[in-house]
Amino acid sequence: MDSVSLAEFSRSTQSSFSLDICPRCEEGVLTIVEVPHDITVAGSVLRLPRVQAEQCRVCGYRALSGREVRLFDVLFAPQYHQVGDLIAALRAARYHGMFLREDRGETAIGFGARDYVDALAFDLRDLYLDNESGHVLEGLDIPAGPVAVDVAGRTFLLKLPKIGEGENGVVFDHAADPDTVFKIAKPRQYSREHIRAECENTAFFAGHGVPVPAITEFDPYGSYAVKQRIAGVSLAVLYEELGAPDTRRHRRARAAMQAFADRLLDLFVRHPEAKTSISPNNIFIVEDGQECRCLLVDTGPAPCHDYSTFDFSQYWEVTLPQKIRQYRAVGYI
Ligand SMILES: Nc1ncnc2c1ncn2[C@@H]1O[C@H](COP(=O)(O)OP(=O)(O)OP(=O)(O)O)[C@@H](O)[C@H]1O
Ligand SMILES: [Mg+2]
Ligand SMILES: [Zn+2]
Repeated sequence: MDSVSLAEFSRSTQSSFSLDICPRCEEGVLTIVEVPHDITVAGSVLRLPRVQAEQCRVCGYRALSGREVRLFDVLFAPQYHQVGDLIAALRAARYHGMFLREDRGETAIGFGARDYVDALAFDLRDLYLDNESGHVLEGLDIPAGPVAVDVAGRTFLLKLPKIGEGENGVVFDHAADPDTVFKIAKPRQYSREHIRAECENTAFFAGHGVPVPAITEFDPYGSYAVKQRIAGVSLAVLYEELGAPDTRRHRRARAAMQAFADRLLDLFVRHPEAKTSISPNNIFIVEDGQECRCLLVDTGPAPCHDYSTFDFSQYWEVTLPQKIRQYRAVGYI
């Protein structure tokens, strides 16, 4: 990404809200556009004239923005008089409570029972899930915590600020359990699918000897996951602390990462379906005396990545500093 487009965007690392790198190509910064959107409810197709969508200028990814749209809320907003018949249809289909969230207390944020989500018609399910995690992430976008998040009746006490963020999720420490982290998918179908697949792929990597955090539990819709908290620091955070390229510490980390990248890329050639992103956010480095080890913190799929011309020197010297600048600009680190 060039510096001109980076300069257009910036947000604080305290915030887990608003600016994003494209989850598909991991290059472009998503911009918000307004598009018409059709929704099928109780057999009728209704067109919402203007809803917000996220769009990537680099790869063409475009999807409804769960974060910005709040479609469920919007549908009841006064400017949408013209969709009165949609509202009537929704009420007739007994979706009333979901929109108004009458079942929730004023302060409660959380994820609802999954049998409730199972029962939603397909078109509404993603809107509901976007809306749900949009509200949770907004509730966590405050400077101090902890914040109680209800997960289908259980309470998870999350520490603030977030401990990390990537294109697909925001990650928090548990106040009551130092051994696990709580990862919340960003409010879009792509990111939920990414987290669901990440949880399912973890066993594959572990089975091939790649150190990965264990999954304690995950939502079948991919909205959240509880993962083992791993030791070390992400390469995104550590890279600039390593010192000059000719120092022992820098050379040690570089050599460890080169061996790890070789191993992962070899695995991706043999198992292309397991291809994941080796972005600096996804690699953790443990420095232990003279030893340096690498872990893969995020096993989520990256089907659009092309490693056929991968060059480690280019990755280490050019791609990493660029990615780190971009993460900073959007507030991931
Ligand atoms: N298990 C963990 N232990 C410690 N820190 C973690 C863990 N999981 C995530 N983090 C922190 O959160 C950051 C983002 O996590 P992760 O890569 O899983 O998110 P993501 O949005 O899915 O990323 P991507 O978009 O690259 O798939 C990590 O770089 C790390 O700093
Ligand atoms: Mg990641
Ligand atoms: Zn893109």
